[in-house]
Amino acid sequence: MSHRGGNSNAPAAKSELIGNGTVSTLANSRQRLRLNPNKEHKPEAYADLELDFSPSIFSSLERHLPPNMLVISRDDKAKFMTEILLKYLPTGERNRTQKHKEYRQKIKSYYQPLHPELYTMNPIIFFVPTFLKAISDNTEQSFRSIISEPSPDILVFQMFQPDFCELLLSEIENFEKWVTEANFRIMRPNRMNKFGAVLDDFGLEPMLDKLMDDFVRPLSRVFFPEVGGSTLDSHHGFVVEYGKDKDVDLGFHVDDSEVTLNVCLGKEFSGGELFFRGSRCEKHVNTGSQPDEVFDYNHVPGRAVLHRGRHRHGARATTSGHRINFLMWCRSSVFREMKLYQKDFSSWCGECNRMKQERQHSTCAATRLELITREGESAA
Ligand SMILES: [Fe+2]
Ligand SMILES: [Zn+2]
Repeated sequence: MSHRGGNSNAPAAKSELIGNGTVSTLANSRQRLRLNPNKEHKPEAYADLELDFSPSIFSSLERHLPPNMLVISRDDKAKFMTEILLKYLPTGERNRTQKHKEYRQKIKSYYQPLHPELYTMNPIIFFVPTFLKAISDNTEQSFRSIISEPSPDILVFQMFQPDFCELLLSEIENFEKWVTEANFRIMRPNRMNKFGAVLDDFGLEPMLDKLMDDFVRPLSRVFFPEVGGSTLDSHHGFVVEYGKDKDVDLGFHVDDSEVTLNVCLGKEFSGGELFFRGSRCEKHVNTGSQPDEVFDYNHVPGRAVLHRGRHRHGARATTSGHRINFLMWCRSSVFREMKLYQKDFSSWCGECNRMKQERQHSTCAATRLELITREGESAA
């Protein structure tokens, strides 16, 4: 993150930032971030704090703190960094962040979790042994040993224990019951799903942070480095529900993520296949697909699919029963920042690749033609 904060306009920005007339002593102390991160410094963990941004953002920003701030308390560091991060959000978004925080606080004070053990990461209980072993070995070979790739860049593997799926389903059911009974106005996961819930909103965010940091990022680093797989630093975790009286299907779309983890939790259902049609950059999102990009996937409870957010997909109708899927949209702020400066083809976009090849072919053809012409001329 670049630091643009000149001191001349700092007081105005700060009072606007805090908004209640009190200017924090930290923000007032004219501290500036270092341009180059201190690579030797080991940042604190922020996962257990209630913060407005992802804990990993704080950990990476901490390396940019001025040296004298590295020794202050973790709370003070977090406060200082929050002020900086908020400063770069547009006003509309800042208000939304504040509203969302209040929304989560309301849930926290009224909703009583049914299975508290779900709220802390417990790998032995959550994951199947094969998955755990592959992650702890942490090599491409160990990952490949549990992963199948039925179509390019669509990774499939067993992930959650059946008991964990059941526990999570029952927690979600309990949450939905509370929403109905309390007549609580719930925010749904996205514009496409009218049913389902955001897990981050009712206390599961710290656990999902761990899930991304320790389990999804190691995989994405190996399989999706070209879309920021190794720098995933925030997520949106939610469940979607399909079936009678729920959402039926889901139109063709791309996710607001660099990498998406999609795990079927159950229950009994038929239909609901995912259909994939190749990865596309923003410019090419509506182009046709090549035959080798067409792939349909059948959900199995406990089994995970990992794919690029830009891998276009949709879900067919769930024709009977009830299907609930857990989704985690993982994002990389570094990748999003870098993308702003990118002018060339995207290595991961099927259409960009097709165009690049076409261009190479025509260059080759032109060169060949030129050579033949020259040969003809010299022969004559
Ligand atoms: Fe999606
Ligand atoms: Zn493209």
